[in-house]
Parts: sequence; C-alpha cells; structure tokens
Amino acid sequence: MDDDRLQWIYSATSPTELRERYEVWAAEYDSDLDGMQWLAPLAGAQRCHHFAGPDAAVLDAGCGTGLVGTHLRAASVGSLVGFDLSPAMLQQAATRRWSCGGVYDHLVLGSLLEPLPFAAASFDAVVSVGVFTIGHVGPVALRGLTAVVRPGGHVSVTFRDDSVGPLGYEAEAERLQLEGVWRLVERTEAAPLITEGGVGAPMRVWTWQVLG
Ligand SMILES: C[S@@+](CC[C@H](N)C(=O)[O-])C[C@H]1O[C@@H](n2cnc3c(N)ncnc32)[C@H](O)[C@@H]1O
Repeated sequence: MDDDRLQWIYSATSPTELRERYEVWAAEYDSDLDGMQWLAPLAGAQRCHHFAGPDAAVLDAGCGTGLVGTHLRAASVGSLVGFDLSPAMLQQAATRRWSCGGVYDHLVLGSLLEPLPFAAASFDAVVSVGVFTIGHVGPVALRGLTAVVRPGGHVSVTFRDDSVGPLGYEAEAERLQLEGVWRLVERTEAAPLITEGGVGAPMRVWTWQVLG
C-alpha cells in the first residue's frame, strides 16, 4: 500500500464520513498496516498488560480489526471487550480466534463521542490505539474512558507526537489530572510506531491511573 489510504482516513471531516471510510477499508486494513510497520498495537497492549496484570478486565476502545486484542491475549488477559464505530471493522475482529474462542469476549458497536454503554468502573483497564489521532476522536472523549475504569485502574492511549499537543489531547489530559480524575504514570519514549512514506512517525503510549 502507499500512504494514500491513511491520508484519506485522516482527512475525514465527521464521524459519519470516518465510519464510511473504515467500512471500505476494513477488509484490507491489516495487510495495509502491515506494510506500514504498524507497531502501535503491540506497544499499547504491552503497556496495558504491564499495568493491569494478567487477569484484568480490559476494554479495547476503538478495537478495529482486533490487533491490540490479539497481543493482549498473547500476554494474558482476564476478559476483553472490543468497542468500535465501524461494523465492518468489528466483523473483522469477530473472525479472530484465540484458544477455543474468540479474541474478544464481547464486541460492541458505538461511538466514543457518546456516553459509553458500560457500567461505571466496570473495567480494570482501557487501552486505545490509533484512535485519539488526526481526523478521529477528539480530546473530549478522554474523560469518558475514565468513567468506565475502576479507581486504581489504568488507561493506556497511543498518541502521535505531532498531534498530542496541537489537537488538544495533552491539555485535556492535564485538565483531568488537575481535577484529580487521573494521574500520569508513564509516557514511553518516542518510537516510530508507524512508517509513512518510508519515514517513521514518532508515537508514544501514555498511561494514567484513575483516581478514586
Ligand atoms: C487506526 S484504527 C485503530 C484500530 C486498532 N486499535 C489498531 O490498533 O489497529 C482506528 C479505529 O478507531 C475507530 N473509531 C474512530 N472513531 C471512533 C469513535 N468515535 N468511536 C469508536 N471508535 C472509533 C475506527 O472505526 C477504527 O477502527
């Protein structure tokens, strides 16, 4: 693949348009991203597992085709729910198998820009990879993630270095910290977790602990 497909995705101007584009892309998403050295799912899964432990109940927010879930299963996870805007991406995730069952215990269709359809504090951890980025989900949705994690649990999110400040994610994260909603426990070193036009784009996994 060339990078045109990714730029097409980044240039979506509304959630409806973004969903329509993922509907078109879903079947080729994995092979296209494989060609772009998409390492963020592994990085996000590793940090989530590190903080949440092997028996955690985890929400994969914006699970897409299930790349993060596959890495989490390999590391060990207690239970795993996938949530995504795109039915076609969820259909791909549903085909992933692990041991005798699916990678995900449940797959749920919905938007991170609306109240999440999960009980308060019902997860030990949330992981979100490639979702809080250009043309996707704005900073306002970070607060929603904290609502479904139990006090003491963790939220691990990947950000591109070139958008974490300009798109307002860092400011919203600091606001939540000042409000006592969460505290930053780790920001990984910058690493090229995706390659565009032959050049690695620096990304990091940020992890917060949700406070009681
Ligand atoms: C770049 S893909 C990342 C998928 C997967 N996490 C991975 O690492 O491969 C972004 C995903 O976010 C989903 N998404 C975009 N906007 C969303 C929203 N408002 N609510 C839930 N999911 C959303 C898309 O449907 C897509 O599956």
